[in-house]
Amino acid sequence: MTGVTIQQKNTDRKQMLEAFDETKTGVKGLLDSGLDKIPEIFVRPSEELSEELTYKYPKIEVPVIDLSAGRIQVVEQVRSASEKWGFFQVVNHGIPSEVLDRAINGVREFNEGDVEEKRKYYSRDDRRNVKFSTNYDLYSSKTANWRDSLRFSFPDQIRSEELPLSCRESTVEYSNHVAVLGNNLLELLSEALGLKPDHLNKLECAKGRRMSMHYYPACPEPELTLGSTKHTDTAFLTILLQNHVNGLQVFYEDQWIKVEPYPGALIANIGNFLQLVSNGKFRSVMHRVVANREGPRISAAYFLSGPYEENKVYGPIEELISEESPAIYREVHLRDYIQKFLSVGLDENLGLDFWKI
Ligand code: OGA
Ligand code: NI
Repeated sequence: MTGVTIQQKNTDRKQMLEAFDETKTGVKGLLDSGLDKIPEIFVRPSEELSEELTYKYPKIEVPVIDLSAGRIQVVEQVRSASEKWGFFQVVNHGIPSEVLDRAINGVREFNEGDVEEKRKYYSRDDRRNVKFSTNYDLYSSKTANWRDSLRFSFPDQIRSEELPLSCRESTVEYSNHVAVLGNNLLELLSEALGLKPDHLNKLECAKGRRMSMHYYPACPEPELTLGSTKHTDTAFLTILLQNHVNGLQVFYEDQWIKVEPYPGALIANIGNFLQLVSNGKFRSVMHRVVANREGPRISAAYFLSGPYEENKVYGPIEELISEESPAIYREVHLRDYIQKFLSVGLDENLGLDFWKI
């Protein structure tokens, strides 16, 4: 292509994105308009589509950990899963399944509810604590994802009156429960690193309330797009609730492994900051969501992302550094990192390479 045609293509794409964004009704709005082909802005480049054909989908599963088993056994399973997979599912985690169901239903009701109500929340304004949009990185990514998200980010407690009425109660209820589970998991992860149980909590890994509630509508051409581009999470730990519709995949030993939806289970995955403070012992692993003819897939990601407003500095934990295992990362300013992450596309994969010594 000549310079002029590339420029023209970029202008056309920007206009298409803007026209879509201005509808403020997201991917769900497109689907409701009755389309049978996905718009070009969602179509992945042909190199990516042919690369897909090289994956074999081995029949293995991310570890499932029963949190009601004996402490020593649980800590050992958490250690092994965090080192090898960076991902595990938990059962008997103490959150009643009705709370999980209500949370999923709340997200569904918001997305399938009154369009004008959704438009009120549709925004890309960084100053808003609660916002709804199709892809926070719509204008910075190369390909749009088949997903609408309602996201909130509060430095401390949730201000519930700022949440949409349709999912307010269910979200606050779930978030209160998941915060407790988050603390429990941080204790297990601390022990799994050979540290005192309160070590990660003392680092304030659990501070802040940040959640992304995703709605992945059914997709007429799922092989051409993705629900979520491959990425690692910018947090210490993510706890993910998913409904029964498949889609989440984890990159393990050069293959994509499906994360089976189990009723009542929750998924935990190590984020970039836990990889950093654990000095690479625990892995923050690439994952993605494929699109699906069946829908909607609904999920809620609760991020333990630390006191990001304070720009606290994090580096490898001293107790984990020795002569045999020297620090492999430099220190990182939390807020600077998150701001950088939000300013580029998810497909740029900020990761930790830049901070490697
Ligand atoms: C995320 C994420 C997966 C899902 O929000 O970071 O990876 O299943 N979500 O929605
Ligand atoms: Ni993620």
